[in-house]
Amino acid sequence: MGCLVVIGTQWGDEGKAKMIDFYTRDADIIVRYQGGANAGHTVVANGKKFIFHLVPSGILHEGRICVVGNGVVLDPLQLIDEINLLGKEGYSVLDRLLISDAAHLILPYHKALDGAMEESSAKKIGTTQRGIGPCYADKCLRTGIRAGDVLDRNGLDERISRVLEMKNMQLEKLYGKKPVDKNEVMDILDSFRAKAEKMIVNTQSYLHRALKNKKRILLEGAQGYALDIDHGTYPFVTSSNPTIGGALMGTGLNSFDIDKVVGITKAYVTRVGEGPFPTEDVGDDGERLRVNGGEFGSTTGRPRRCGWFDVELLKQSAMMNGLTGIAFTKLDVLSGFKKIKVAVSYEIKGKKIDYFPGAYLHEVKPVYEELDGWDENISDCREFRDLPSNARDYVSYIEKQIGVPIEIVSTGAGREKTIVMK
Ligand code: GDP
Ligand code: IMO
Ligand code: MG
Repeated sequence: MGCLVVIGTQWGDEGKAKMIDFYTRDADIIVRYQGGANAGHTVVANGKKFIFHLVPSGILHEGRICVVGNGVVLDPLQLIDEINLLGKEGYSVLDRLLISDAAHLILPYHKALDGAMEESSAKKIGTTQRGIGPCYADKCLRTGIRAGDVLDRNGLDERISRVLEMKNMQLEKLYGKKPVDKNEVMDILDSFRAKAEKMIVNTQSYLHRALKNKKRILLEGAQGYALDIDHGTYPFVTSSNPTIGGALMGTGLNSFDIDKVVGITKAYVTRVGEGPFPTEDVGDDGERLRVNGGEFGSTTGRPRRCGWFDVELLKQSAMMNGLTGIAFTKLDVLSGFKKIKVAVSYEIKGKKIDYFPGAYLHEVKPVYEELDGWDENISDCREFRDLPSNARDYVSYIEKQIGVPIEIVSTGAGREKTIVMK
């Protein structure tokens, strides 16, 4: 492996972190390339559960370098918390975490605005309220504060004063909220500088040097294809590009550097927050998926909406991301269902369509096929041939529908619950 990209293919929470932890065995450097602490990435290692929001999910493997890329929006307080927590658990981080000097910082006014905008909006998105949208908006407006800016304390003081004038006007006059105190912001930036000063580098050139030196790089996406600001179910999306373009933009690597793109794909579908979800099951089956799959948000604790596998979504996600393989996760959650539904195509007003129509998704009706289920608990199966025949048939059926090889089948949260297809 030279450079492997790991991308969520649905609406996030596909089990990306579990697979990143798995692929880290064969990697030297792991890079988060977009999103921020809206991500909740769960790794279960040796029976212990870690949820990462910013630190790349390969961090539990000794000696690996972890990078927060330039495409990430970084909440300094969250990063410090994660570094401290890992330290308490006995994982040294300070000497193997790098932060892009071009990563934008999420500051208290971003979070306050995220909350205020959601509260006052008639059409809520159901954001994680981590300040993601307002921070990316500042990046585009060219008014953002970047990690590298904290190295110049004097210049920073003046810039924060100017930014706060605008932000507090918005908060107070537009939304009737409390203004953000400048001392609070400066204290956060000071703590960040104290903790992270030595980690802040030009990660783009670091990564290119590493590739030249034959280092193996793993790019960790957050969220998923259908939450992409360009390709997803706009406006019910996040404010970044979780898809392949985001992996390049958010690291400075180019398309010729990429060897493989693996799409992490849940054996059913979930979504947190508002927005269309054609295969959602609001009845008993959906509830059963939620309970069996532990489908509650890793960041906000909100119950995830649950439903059936959606072939059109996956076909489009595979095509747009150039997937070379799929890791098929949470197959164990389907044990005990007599019948398993799969949406194989969509109809709009009685007419069949053969694509995933992003912004018009609320208009589609899924067309289902039903497959026979299985009763056995499969979480201890380590080889594909150990799975019940109906489970094998389900995997093969999905693989055929999508037209991309399923390389891994995941049957549990733990590292060891992973079947590598031969
Ligand atoms: P991510 O955001 O894509 O990294 O996924 P999350 O961590 O938010 O959510 C996935 C959840 O499913 C976590 O609780 C994982 O520990 C768990 N998980 C991952 N793979 C499997 C699997 O194959 N089976 C089961 N039962 N749980 C899994
Ligand atoms: P991981 O990386 C699932 C959803 C939110 C909301 C929308 C916009 O763990 O898969 P935002 O706070 O980004 O402005 O919210 O995006 N969302 C996620 N859903 N998994 C995630 O990350 C998500 N990150 C954001 O619920 O609907
Ligand atoms: Mg998650």
